[in-house]
Amino acid sequence: MLTEIDHVAIVVRDLDAAVAWYRDALGAEVAHRETVERDGVEEALLAVAESFVQLITPTRDGSPVAKFLDKRGEGLHHVGYRVPDCAAALEAMVKAGATPVDEAPRPGSRNTTIAFIHPKGSFGTLIELVEE
Ligand code: CO
Repeated sequence: MLTEIDHVAIVVRDLDAAVAWYRDALGAEVAHRETVERDGVEEALLAVAESFVQLITPTRDGSPVAKFLDKRGEGLHHVGYRVPDCAAALEAMVKAGATPVDEAPRPGSRNTTIAFIHPKGSFGTLIELVEE
């Protein structure tokens, strides 16, 4: 079902500062940058082989990522797994007892189709299914 780690998402307060740090400390370059209004986040994707590190920062107060930042501070937020068919993967996970955040697949950044699975019931990790 899983074909690749699509991205590891990290919440940061200052996206430009984080992008600069990853460039200077790790030589990582921005492959894509996008504001996703629906989720209230701006993201910068840093390419690592076929996967990405996704730096995200909230664009408005009260968004889920803003609340996460207030409560838990900067750091790891979720793991995105690449799947060939998001709807099928979501259905299989729910059938296996996972708790969905999204009841049905929805648009993500980069014209992907995504669905989130709740950390409760997933050993404490927010999981994102990503179909390119
Ligand atoms: Co993500």
